Amino acid sequence: MRYKKIPSSLFIKNRKNFKNKMSTNAIAIFTSNDLMPTNADDLMGFAQNNDMFYLAGIDQEESVLLLYPDAELSENREILFVKETNDLIKIWEGDKLTKEKATEISGIKNIKWLKDFEITLQYMAFEADTFYLGHNEHKKSATVAMLTQQDRMIKFCKEKYPLHNYKRAAKIIRALRQIKTEEEIELIQKAIDISIGSFKRVLKSVQPDKMEYELEAELTYGLIKKGAKRHAFLPIIASGKNACALHYNTNDNICKDGDMVLMDFGVCYANYNSDTTRCFPVNGKFTKRQKEVYNAVLHCLKEGSKLLKPGFLPTDYEKQMADLVEEQLINLGLLNAKEVKDQDPKNPLYKKYFMHGTAHHLGLDVHDVGLYSRPFEPGMVLTCEPGIYISEEGIGCRLENNILITQEGNVNLTKAMPIEIDVIEVLMK
Ligand code: GLY
Ligand code: MN
Ligand code: MN
Repeated sequence: MRYKKIPSSLFIKNRKNFKNKMSTNAIAIFTSNDLMPTNADDLMGFAQNNDMFYLAGIDQEESVLLLYPDAELSENREILFVKETNDLIKIWEGDKLTKEKATEISGIKNIKWLKDFEITLQYMAFEADTFYLGHNEHKKSATVAMLTQQDRMIKFCKEKYPLHNYKRAAKIIRALRQIKTEEEIELIQKAIDISIGSFKRVLKSVQPDKMEYELEAELTYGLIKKGAKRHAFLPIIASGKNACALHYNTNDNICKDGDMVLMDFGVCYANYNSDTTRCFPVNGKFTKRQKEVYNAVLHCLKEGSKLLKPGFLPTDYEKQMADLVEEQLINLGLLNAKEVKDQDPKNPLYKKYFMHGTAHHLGLDVHDVGLYSRPFEPGMVLTCEPGIYISEEGIGCRLENNILITQEGNVNLTKAMPIEIDVIEVLMK
């Protein structure tokens, strides 16, 4: 493992919270993600299913977690199935989880080999009335064209046990995952701290005529060196007008003298993520116009962050953030105040320069699970990421911090990541 062992008490607590929300006499089943193929015999890097990680801390493929809090026999109330290792696997892949190790990580005492899953379930399904099954219900889920391990588990259970009741585990777990525990906040903070070091490394290396991917290389070096698992997502390193393509990530252009670079990057540490954006001038000095746009976005970030506090509704926050950006667009001479006053509210003019939302939950997923109808509550971690994109001027600016909501208001977990213009210019000297 690249990360310090997470105390099993976190996963024990998470399972307890989940079980408390289950209906009576029900079994919940969670699966690992698949190892995803590329071509020939190659595989992508493994990304664990985040519900599985949240409930068991297990970071290995082909694992299944079964929870049956009302089982007659106490040893059947929590069972973790892992794939049986053997000498051949050891030769090719090294150590896989032993039963003892799986208990140490998860706090689950009853560990079985995966080959025993179906027969074990058969005995338990005989007693139980209901299944809770995991499924990716994210509103922007990208898994439409394939059958995931979760899909296959749903198919298997429904075919074998057609007369049981079926419930959505996601409904419970997304609400739990929305509120971060102290241990989780520490892990997100660790991801952020690694990203701060990597960002400073990039700032020192930027020069006119470097390729965007050379900055990506500095970023990658910085985060891997500090024990990150990987980038939280493909980093966006967009110079000049590339910054106006919101999810640009080919990073294959030259950073030209006089342009500004937008860098949206995240670190995945112990499966928890940071997600931050900073902008800086290629030659180390912001132009007058870049400063104006940058300070307009910074103003929105600072003012908008104040709205991330308990009781505030995400929709109200987004509306007020849009008002803030709109005001700045008028100040920058990009919108006309009279035209804004007369605009069609269903098609506001600011959308030409600012076309995305500015707060999403952050945690095991970068765009973390959870309902946006739920008002902000202490323990939520959100991004705050206003932006202004002026393609006709070749300037795109977004600034993104990660904010923890507390009883008293909020804490900026990214406050140590340089953001003021003068600080960035000094660091680039
Ligand atoms: N990097 C994607 C986002 O900021 O949400
Ligand atoms: Mn981002
Ligand atoms: Mn974000």
